[in-house]
Amino acid sequence: VPTFQTARRILIGPGVLDELPREIRELQCRRALVVTDPGVFSAGIASRVIDELAKNCLEVEVFDGIEGEPTLEVAEACLATARAFSTEIVVGAGGGSCIDVAKVAAAFFRSEGSVRDYTSSDLALKEGLPLVAIPTTAGTGSEATGIAILIDSLENRKIGMTSPMLFPHLAVVDPDLMLTVPAPVTAYTGIDALTHAVEAYLSINATSVTDALAIKAVSLIGNALRVCFQDGRNREARHAMAEGSLLAGMAFANAGVAAVHAFAYPLGARYRVPHGVANALMLLPVFNFNMQVCVDRASHIGDALGAAPEIVTGEMGAKRTLQALETLLRELGIPQTLKEVGVREADLPDMAGEALRIERLLRNNPREIGFEEAIALYVQAFSGFAPPVFTV
Ligand SMILES: [Fe+2]
Repeated sequence: VPTFQTARRILIGPGVLDELPREIRELQCRRALVVTDPGVFSAGIASRVIDELAKNCLEVEVFDGIEGEPTLEVAEACLATARAFSTEIVVGAGGGSCIDVAKVAAAFFRSEGSVRDYTSSDLALKEGLPLVAIPTTAGTGSEATGIAILIDSLENRKIGMTSPMLFPHLAVVDPDLMLTVPAPVTAYTGIDALTHAVEAYLSINATSVTDALAIKAVSLIGNALRVCFQDGRNREARHAMAEGSLLAGMAFANAGVAAVHAFAYPLGARYRVPHGVANALMLLPVFNFNMQVCVDRASHIGDALGAAPEIVTGEMGAKRTLQALETLLRELGIPQTLKEVGVREADLPDMAGEALRIERLLRNNPREIGFEEAIALYVQAFSGFAPPVFTV
């Protein structure tokens, strides 16, 4: 049965972080654990969050043991900190890594067993603690999803946990916190958000609700990402990206993401390629493969991206979308080949096998992918996907 779920409450707009004390007061908590990383700390954002919490006389503990994309062990350590401190609320402030770990700490707080015990994708958890998500990048959309992604470093794979218990109680999406994100991070996190919207729109589980969110996200991101990349301090563009990323998160939390993410995961798990870069590397080959079975939907994405002044539909529209995505990726200076990020060619068949095992995501994909096709997608990404040349 199609359902729609998102964060219980969402504040969005420049300066909304100022509302945090009032919002927290409603939740009537006395002890807060802030989950963040050293980068967010040095940007001064963590201390702003802590100051806002202190205005409510909350006792605050900080967990900042997050470096890069989080492992199961990091999530366990954060959960242990939350329990030792007897926290009553968990606040994730940072990129998707911080928010995902905060989600796990909040959701597992009252459940027995370790995080590793719950690595199946459909979790049965006891009611956890309230979670506040404060994103500092416009990318993962984690503030609006019931999903947490962790790396299992024993098996070198990414685990996607999904549960209604993982949805934040409160998302505070303040684009002013994103003004100092460096250009390369702006670029690849922005492409992650765009990929969420594209995959949610092409998902076989898309609904009218997720379509509306996904298409609006594509148009916001299509207009604003280049501007943010060139001029990080442009408040209007940062606001549009924050909205686009949130809407994309709301869409894919319900419609799902698909093969781009499935093929990106082995790059993250084996080579620690940042999630947004991994998606950027797989986006064109997978989009090209998928669009053959959904040319009209693929061409709607091009319209939303503003790919050409007049509407072109069908196969031509789909190709034009592919070209618009290729141009955007090139302008953002994101690595374009698996070679550049250190992937070994000999690993491609194993990676294809791993990607195909991510049933949780592939069941949303509009086109079924066989083993040979999976290898071909990685081979295309390995030396750089060149979209077919055509003229409209
Ligand atoms: Fe993603």
